[in-house]
Amino acid sequence: MPIVTLRELLDHAAEHNYAIPAFNVNNMEQIQAIVSAADAVNAPVILQASRGARSYAGDTILNALIRAVSETYPKVPICMHQDHGNSVATCISAIRHGFSSVMMDGTLQEDGKTLGDYKYNVAVTRETVRIAHMVGASVEGEIGHLGSLETGQGEAEDGHGFQGTLTREDLLTKPEEAASFVNDTGVDALAIAIGTSHGAYKFSRKPDGETLAVAQLEKIRARLPDTHFVLHGASSVPEYLQEIVTANGGELRPAFGVPVEEIEACIRLGVRKVNIDTDLRLAMTGAIRQVFTQTPEEFDPRKYLGAARNAMSTLCRERFERFGAAGKAGSIACLPMEEMALRYTA
Ligand code: G3H
Ligand code: 13P
Ligand code: ZN
Repeated sequence: MPIVTLRELLDHAAEHNYAIPAFNVNNMEQIQAIVSAADAVNAPVILQASRGARSYAGDTILNALIRAVSETYPKVPICMHQDHGNSVATCISAIRHGFSSVMMDGTLQEDGKTLGDYKYNVAVTRETVRIAHMVGASVEGEIGHLGSLETGQGEAEDGHGFQGTLTREDLLTKPEEAASFVNDTGVDALAIAIGTSHGAYKFSRKPDGETLAVAQLEKIRARLPDTHFVLHGASSVPEYLQEIVTANGGELRPAFGVPVEEIEACIRLGVRKVNIDTDLRLAMTGAIRQVFTQTPEEFDPRKYLGAARNAMSTLCRERFERFGAAGKAGSIACLPMEEMALRYTA
């Protein structure tokens, strides 16, 4: 199966009313866990790498790993996506290293911390779209600011958030602005801000309509009925994973993520790509800690990395099933990028 584009996957998801999880990857075990789970339930999948992941694994190794896993599981349509590209140059370099899709995150300037205004965001995103579409690659843009509606804070410390505090109005994606942004840039998918944020500590308690603004998504959807939306910060931070981590020596503050039923509500409102990193980090860390606690004499990495791989795979399988992606792989045409390029230029 070739590496496929985001556009093709999300068009299929929209046509059949489901969403595809986009899992962040940094190493072999994560990639194997995710794609073997996709294979087991016959689902398409998006593997995404942040700039940090690209420099950790190395572009050549990351690309080779994803292509090798794709050969191992030929039935799984895989999109290889740049997560939170900070500049046009980052997006171009991703495409040159085999990515079939990029996110140009112009809500922040190149430093990943200073806010980018509308004009800046449109300029960098439109330029990315112009170049990416020439070779058939897809582009995700973002409008609004990911951050907590409880505190108004982004999460600048992990390099994907603004510094300082914003009002509720400034954080949330505005329907009118979203509509002009899609029109001004030609993006294939649009990340929206409705109160989710990256990491484990998204909410101080189970979110409600005040802290997770699903109603805002409804308004955006009314303005943009055909746009594919992306939900960042969509880890659910399950209690069972928190318990495994803390029961085995880990330290976590009380943490609340996005309940899976809320993600399902967002899928009914046009969310087609659901970004998940933290849940895999928790699954991996919990499993490794458990092996170390239960068998302190163990020092074969295959024992703890194998356990981590199994734990991640279980989580991925659950998400494919709940998001409606299970069973969908077989009916996706899997067009090569060259074919997608012709469609954009037609
Ligand atoms: O967007 C955030 C993802 O969790 C990636 O995080 O930059 O630490 O790899 P990272
Ligand atoms: P989480 O931290 O909720 O997993 O979000 C990941 C993400 O949005 C990557 O872009
Ligand atoms: Zn994100």
